[in-house]
Amino acid sequence: MEIKKVCVLGAGIMGSGIAQVAAQAGFPVAMRDVEDRFVQKGLAAIKQSLDRIVSKGKMEAGEAAAVTGRVKGTTDLKEAVADADLVVEAVIEVMEVKKIVFKELDALCKPTAILASNTSGLSITEMAAVTRRPEKVIGVHFFNPVPLMKLVELIRGFVTSDETLAVSKAFVQKLGKTPIEVTEAPGFAVNRILCPMINEAIFLYSEGVASAEDIDQGMVLGANHPIGPLALADLVGLDTLLHVLDGLHCELGEDKYRPAPLLRKMVRAGYLGRKSGKGFFAYGK
Ligand code: 3HC
Repeated sequence: MEIKKVCVLGAGIMGSGIAQVAAQAGFPVAMRDVEDRFVQKGLAAIKQSLDRIVSKGKMEAGEAAAVTGRVKGTTDLKEAVADADLVVEAVIEVMEVKKIVFKELDALCKPTAILASNTSGLSITEMAAVTRRPEKVIGVHFFNPVPLMKLVELIRGFVTSDETLAVSKAFVQKLGKTPIEVTEAPGFAVNRILCPMINEAIFLYSEGVASAEDIDQGMVLGANHPIGPLALADLVGLDTLLHVLDGLHCELGEDKYRPAPLLRKMVRAGYLGRKSGKGFFAYGK
């Protein structure tokens, strides 16, 4: 089976990024969100990212226009999934919402369609179980910012088939990304390592061991990370980070995954990082 048409659910940071890279690879893409203002925001983010690539001389303006032309924004779920061979959901990280989405997708999509989740760490098996095609459900986990990050984790749920994995792998490679295969486990592979590291940086900061700037400087210069852990928390989104850590803590039951109380407090205060204009650092918004 070959992927010809792609649908992305959710036009947020991840959804719009996934729609963009699929369109850049030549796929027609339907990008759906629940309200038109979210769709428009996602389309604007794609345009902004493409403008950036064009301004660096890495893409012709005509090609960028062709890419945006391949992305159709919509609020109509039925229209968005019509004829889609692959649906990637990038909706909110709440299992009950994901399950509703997967049930709807199962009813609306053609029987051969692969249903993928871009979840940061929730159970693919649990989402698959609400469908009548659990073998066609898989995790296809992109990294932020999607247009730049080369990795995609392919998460095999309990009954994901070899064919679903192979087709998804070929799709990811067509996007110019490198897939790694992961058997389902909380946080998968990368977030299981990355998020506790960021969490530790937040503990350090809240204990007054070092300033936010110095913690980040330490990891940039001392561990060769491209940006520091607190700036990365702001990039990922503090709410997303908290979801991942809560998931790891709850599922694995070990204290080492306990989210830093400061992280929870900041999320409650609406300090979500770049997307809200403030997190560990301030952003012009
Ligand atoms: N679209 C297109 N181009 C972009 C872009 C975007 N959204 N964002 C940045 N760029 C381009 C810039 O134009 C610039 O181009 P140039 O090299 O030709 O000048 C280049 O990327 C570098 O950008 P900046 O100079 O603005 O900033 P940096 O040097 O800091 O690089 C970065 C940006 C590549 C994002 C770098 O900071 C980085 O690698 N950060 C770490 C990212 C990371 O670890 N992501 C994973 C998060 S975990 C996750 O997503 C999983 C989830 O489940 C939680």
